[in-house]
Amino acid sequence: MKYTLNFRIWHWLNAIIVLGLLGTVFLRKTFLSWRSNSEILMNKLLEMDVTISVDQAKVLATSIRAGMWEWHIILGYALAFSVLYRVFLYFKDDSKHEKFSDLNTHKKLVRSLYYIFYASLLFMAASGLIIHFYQELHLSKELAHDIKEIHELMYNAILIFVPLHIAGVFIADGTSEKGLVSSMINGENISK
Ligand code: HEM
Ligand code: HEM
Repeated sequence: MKYTLNFRIWHWLNAIIVLGLLGTVFLRKTFLSWRSNSEILMNKLLEMDVTISVDQAKVLATSIRAGMWEWHIILGYALAFSVLYRVFLYFKDDSKHEKFSDLNTHKKLVRSLYYIFYASLLFMAASGLIIHFYQELHLSKELAHDIKEIHELMYNAILIFVPLHIAGVFIADGTSEKGLVSSMINGENISK
């Protein structure tokens, strides 16, 4: 058994959570963007002979987005638990991860990418919770805003990792590591 059931369940639930979080960001930046929607609202209302100010249009557009963005926070909590559970697995799980020094150069690179990704996830969870609870934590709006900027910057690391990882496991499974993807489903060692 390469990956224990707990590890595999963690992998797939975590994947769903991360994809969900990326989904909420995607919607916020595209179909539910307050910039484009406030313009649509203003223009359409104008056609109906209703004039609203830019500020009023912004209020309407952000309130349309609000229900969707709640999912960023809900999935955000889920991510925080997921990261905690991964730390627990690090100490308590029997999945067979080879020692870093025993890996070949390619696998060392892959493993390093995972470490960077784990560090990014930890940062996203911590910074996300801090900006969500900045008032309770008695932080200034300015500081919360600065942390949000870094949160948004680190989002790019997640955005790069996901397609790279999926392409990577597809390529590996199709070439030198046949059965790699199944190993994350059935847990068995891959036959080489
Ligand atoms: C957002 C989506 C995903 C995230 C965040 C994610 C994250 C991760 C992480 C962090 C690891 C390293 C686990 C470890 O500590 O050893 C891993 C391994 C793995 N993932 Fe994913 N994953 C995602 C999607 C997928 C998908 C869609 C597939 C399959 C098509 C997949 C297949 C695998 C496989 C086969 C491994 C083991 C690879 C290896 O041994 O290097 N993952 N994933
Ligand atoms: C994979 C993990 C995450 C990614 C990729 C991500 C991505 C983002 C991005 C890109 C933004 C900026 C949106 C914009 O202004 O256009 C943002 C804002 C935010 N995120 Fe996250 N996030 C993640 C995890 C979390 C977590 C765990 C929480 C905690 C509950 C969280 C809470 C927030 C909050 C409160 C904001 C500010 C929203 C606002 O200004 O209205 N995020 N996130």
